[in-house]
Amino acid sequence: MCGIVAYIGTKEAQPLLIEGLKRLEYRGYDSAGIAVVNDNGIEIERAVGRVSCLEDNLEARGGLRGTLGIAHTRWATHGEVTLRNAHPHTDDSHTIALIHNGIIENYAALRTYLEEKGRKFVTETDTEVLTTLIAELYDGDLEHAVQAALREVTGAYAIAVICATEPDTLVAARKGSPLIVGVGNGEYIVASDGAAIVSHTSRAVLLEDYQVCKITRDGFHTTTIDNVPVTPQIRQLEMELEQIELGDHPHYMHKEIFEQPRSLRNTMRGRLDRNEGRVVLGGVGQYARELVRAKRFILTAQGTALHAAMIGEYLIEDLAKIPCEVEYASELRYRNPIIEEGTVVMAVSQSGETADTLAALQEVTDRGALALGVVNVVGSSISRQTDAGVYLRVGPEIGVASTKAFTGQVAVLAMLAMFLGRRKHMPASQCSRLIESLERIPDQVESIVKQSESIRDITSKYVDRENWLFLGRGVNYPTALEGALKLKEISYIHAEGMPAAEMKHGPIALINDGMPVVFIANQGAQYDKVISNIEQVRSRGGRVIAVATEGDKQIRTVADDVVFVPDIPEPLSPLLTVIPLQLLAYHAAVLRGHDVDKPRNLAKSVTVE
Ligand code: AGP
Repeated sequence: MCGIVAYIGTKEAQPLLIEGLKRLEYRGYDSAGIAVVNDNGIEIERAVGRVSCLEDNLEARGGLRGTLGIAHTRWATHGEVTLRNAHPHTDDSHTIALIHNGIIENYAALRTYLEEKGRKFVTETDTEVLTTLIAELYDGDLEHAVQAALREVTGAYAIAVICATEPDTLVAARKGSPLIVGVGNGEYIVASDGAAIVSHTSRAVLLEDYQVCKITRDGFHTTTIDNVPVTPQIRQLEMELEQIELGDHPHYMHKEIFEQPRSLRNTMRGRLDRNEGRVVLGGVGQYARELVRAKRFILTAQGTALHAAMIGEYLIEDLAKIPCEVEYASELRYRNPIIEEGTVVMAVSQSGETADTLAALQEVTDRGALALGVVNVVGSSISRQTDAGVYLRVGPEIGVASTKAFTGQVAVLAMLAMFLGRRKHMPASQCSRLIESLERIPDQVESIVKQSESIRDITSKYVDRENWLFLGRGVNYPTALEGALKLKEISYIHAEGMPAAEMKHGPIALINDGMPVVFIANQGAQYDKVISNIEQVRSRGGRVIAVATEGDKQIRTVADDVVFVPDIPEPLSPLLTVIPLQLLAYHAAVLRGHDVDKPRNLAKSVTVE
C-alpha cells in the first residue's frame, strides 16, 4: 500500500523523508518520489522502483534543499507504473504539490470540470486531479483550498499538501486511509503509520475521517473539511524502534515467525486466570452480557485474518455454543445482510485499515449489530469504529506475509470463545485445562521453530514444483487454507487449500506424479480419515508432507516427509500446526530467490478496494 511521509521543522527535510520512506517500504510499492519547498518554489524528484533508485536520482542532482517536504511510495491503482504517474504530483501552474494514499472515485468528473477551466493534465492519475482542484480553489490560503477541494471529492484519501507560496505551511487530511501527525519539538512528521514516526517522536495525533490538519513550525490545529475546529488528542505511539528493526534476522518474516513464542505470551499476558478458570478481556468486559446473549456472531475479514476468523468460528461454536458464521468482508458489504436483534459482528484485522473490512463493518453496524474488533494496530480505523475489541499485542508486523498476527488472532479468538463459554455452560475446570494448554503453547512453538533447518531441507525437495495442495480437516481446514496462502504470496507457487475430504470431489484429478500435498495430520477426531486421504494421494503418485503429532508411529509409514508438533487439545492445534507451514513458505521463497518481505504486487495493508 502507498506510504506517506511529510516533514516541517528546522532540519533539512530530504534525509528525514528518505528514512521515513524506507521504514514504510514493507507496505509494498512500485515507485517513489519527494518534493520540497525552497527559494526556487517546489522542487520534485521521482523514480520508478525502489527508494534506493530515488536516492540515486537525488544524488545525481545534488539533492533537494528545504526544511518542508513530502515524500511517497506509490502502489499503482489509477495509471500504469511510470515515472510520470509517480507521486508527488503538482498542478499545471506548479503551485501545489501533493501525495495521496487512497482512490478519488469521482476524479473523472472533476477532471472534465477542470479541463473546462483550462487546466492541463500530464498523467492518468486521480491524484493529479485532486492536486489541480486544490490549485484551482487556492486563493492564498492553502488550508482553506484543501478543505474546499475535499468537500468536492468522493472516495478515500490520506494526503499531505505543500504550496510554493507558503513555505511555512504543511496541510494533511484523511478519509478512509490512515494518517498520523507526529508531534516533535518545533518539528512535525506526518506519515501513514507509526513506523516512519517512532524514531523522531512517540507523541502523535491519529487523524479521524474528514479531518484537516494545518501544521506550521510554531504549532498545528485540526478542523473538519467544513473548517469546524476539532480538539486533537495527542496519544503515545506504542511501538518501539527496536520492534521495527530487523536485528540479526535475514528478513522481517523470519523475525516474526521466530518471535511468535514472545508475541503469543504478550497476547495472553494478564488475560488468563488458571486458578479461577477464567479469561479476562478488559476490552469487551462491558459488553459481556450482550455477547453472551448474542443469537449469532458474524466474523468478517480478508486473507489471513479470514482464515483466523474461520478457526474462530469452530472455537466459538464448540466452546461457547453460539451460532457463528464467517464472511469475506468484500462479499458481506454488498450482500445486503440480514441483521436481526442479537447479532454481533467481529472484524478481524492486523492493520485495522483494510478497506473491505472497514466497509463491511460499517454496513452491518448501520443495521444495528454490536461491533467488536480483533485488531493489532492500536488506534487503527477498525479499532476506533467498533464498540469494543481485543488487541492482539503482537507488536508491529512488517513482513507482508502475516505470521505472528495470525497466531495472535487465533489466540484471541480462542480466549474470546472461552470468555463466552464460561458465561454460559463451561465449567471452571474445563477452562482451567484449556488455559493450561494455552500457557504451554509459546514453549511448544519454540520447539517447532527450532526445526526450521530440517523444514528447509524438506522444502528444497519440492521447491521446483509449480502446484501444491494443502489439506486439513475440522479446525485445521482453515489452517490448510492459510498454508496455501503463505506459499502462494511469497514463493509465487500455485497452491490450493481445502478440506481433506473435498479432494475426492474433483481436485484429486490434479494429483500427478511427484505433486506435493501437505496434510495437517495431527492427532484429532478425524485422524484415521486423514490417513486414508493420504493413502489416496500416495496411490496416485503424489508426494505427502505431513504435519503430525509427536509420538505418532503410523504417519511415517504413509507420508514421504513429516514435521512433528507437540500434542495439544485439537481446538487449539492450529496455533502449532500453522508454524511448519509458515516456515515451509518462507524457505520456498528464499530458495526461489524472491523478496520475502516485499513480494510482487502485494501490499501489507490493502486500504483501497
Ligand atoms: C496475509 O499474509 C496477507 N498479507 C493478506 O492476506 C492480509 O492478511 C489481508 O490483506 C488482511 O489484512 P489485515 O489483517 O490487515 O486486515
